[in-house]
Amino acid sequence: MVVGSIARDTWVKGDRDLDVFMLFSPDLPRETLEKEGLALARSIARQFTDTLFEKYAEHPYINATIDSIDVDLVPCYNVKSAAHIQSAVDRTPFHTRYITEKINGLTDDVLLLKRFAKAGGIYGSDQMTEGFSGYLCELLVLHYGGFTQLLEAASGWGPHQKIDIERHGAKEFSEPLVVIDPVDPRRNVAAAVSIDRMAEFVELARGYREAPSEAFFELPVVTPVSKDELAAILASRGTSLYAVTFATPPFIDEIVVPQLRRSTGAVSDLLTRNGFVVHHAHYQMGKERCMLLFELLTDELPPIRRHEGPPVWNRTNAEKFREKYRDATLPGPFVENGRYVMEVPREFRFAADLLSSKELLNVGVGRHVRASFEKDWCVLEGADCWDEAFAGFIAGFFSRCSPLVRIKRGSAGRK
Ligand code: CTP
Ligand code: MG
Repeated sequence: MVVGSIARDTWVKGDRDLDVFMLFSPDLPRETLEKEGLALARSIARQFTDTLFEKYAEHPYINATIDSIDVDLVPCYNVKSAAHIQSAVDRTPFHTRYITEKINGLTDDVLLLKRFAKAGGIYGSDQMTEGFSGYLCELLVLHYGGFTQLLEAASGWGPHQKIDIERHGAKEFSEPLVVIDPVDPRRNVAAAVSIDRMAEFVELARGYREAPSEAFFELPVVTPVSKDELAAILASRGTSLYAVTFATPPFIDEIVVPQLRRSTGAVSDLLTRNGFVVHHAHYQMGKERCMLLFELLTDELPPIRRHEGPPVWNRTNAEKFREKYRDATLPGPFVENGRYVMEVPREFRFAADLLSSKELLNVGVGRHVRASFEKDWCVLEGADCWDEAFAGFIAGFFSRCSPLVRIKRGSAGRK
């Protein structure tokens, strides 16, 4: 069964993939489905190409490049209804049946919305984008009856927006945008949409309605920075830049990207706990290496710091604390808000030393990031953070602006 946007005539030019699902009887044991289904998928793909890989989503499938088209061959179960699914992929044929049956006359509206979302940088339910999937775009157009009607409604959206086309939702969802799957009352199709991507869609909708233009459908172009440009940016901002880079863990984006997000947060917290002021932090997964990037307001601190002790009321601990610092030469212990405070020598005066230290192995970086750290990581400073492979990422890091602001500035610039 051909599924996805190709099957529904909602395929945007220059786009992704051809999704072919292979439906097997639900009586087949899962192990057999995985083994034989995959073997069959592989032998089919081999008749057309030598470029094929085994991949894992919730279960394994074959990804092949045929005539420079990205083709997925996915074994799944041909279940009676989406309520009987054994894994998420079993749901997809139902999506195709539902949309092909209902989308009549609205495919152009779906194409407009997909291109609008792509131009706004909010298309895709992958971990890096956290935006709107193709199926979600189709459902939104269907629900509101067209692109224009959707934008009018979205202009007034707020968090906890809920859409239930079939009025059959059977679960409470906590995500900012909730669109109950018409074929499965227990699934939120918009589960991947972050609050930021949702807000960006709302501002784009308002902006477009106020002043519609083709600029809202033009794909963004990333202008990478050169090393000299980065040096100039840093000089004018007066901030300090640090990059932590390491070998990309050998797993799919959907697994690595959330770990990069968590690691960036954990390293930022480590910097903050040690007195450094983090202004902005972000991450990027490259083919060979990953980069965590930190812009700091301060990267050098005096050799002393505060150290909080116990409340004086906590007699045993208070006495231990006083005893420990009996011969200290730095000020303290003194009493502040009822508790002891001591001044102690600072462990890390320089952010570079902290980032290069073993402390990085003791914070909550994800499992695969940690395994990569254990082999080796690299700390870069200032304009040396620049790397050809990350030039676009670094450019984006220093030119943050919402999609509507970008589009408005772009169109103003072109006039
Ligand atoms: N799918 C889904 N939820 C996702 C991703 C995919 O339910 N987060 C299902 C949908 O039924 C979707 C199909 O898998 O139509 C194929 O996925 P994909 O190729 O990512 O989406 P398309 O709808 O084909 O959109 P695009 O034009 O971007 O390929
Ligand atoms: Mg597709």
